[in-house]
Amino acid sequence: MAHIYSKEVMDLFMNPKNMGEIENPSGLGKVGNPVCGDVMWIYLQVNEETDIIEDIKVKTFGCVAAIATSSKTTEMAKGKTVTEAYKITKKQVADDLGGLPKQKMHCSNLAVDALQRAIINYLEKTGRSVEEID
Ligand code: FES
Repeated sequence: MAHIYSKEVMDLFMNPKNMGEIENPSGLGKVGNPVCGDVMWIYLQVNEETDIIEDIKVKTFGCVAAIATSSKTTEMAKGKTVTEAYKITKKQVADDLGGLPKQKMHCSNLAVDALQRAIINYLEKTGRSVEEID
């Protein structure tokens, strides 16, 4: 069955943002989607003085929705502190994309989960835990 995607989803699928890798990232998060078996990695470059995410890249083996949500999530996170970025929700990402087909909502979990894992990884590297920012 064909999925009906919003224009925002299709635009980001055609022109994905922040795709790639960061060498020696401040934080790295990887998640797999148990529903479809797709995988995503998010790389962060964080300024340790300010905790601001200065650069963010994503690599994904995923579907249209996974690509669009990872583009949107990275755009939302860039320039924010890790504390602010940790609070980005799946619903905010989906809403910002003009919604996702219901059977594709599981795909939107990947990007936010990978971002949170990358932030946790950054905090651990800097001797902190997520409880300190939550
Ligand atoms: S079908 Fe795998 S991420 Fe969407």
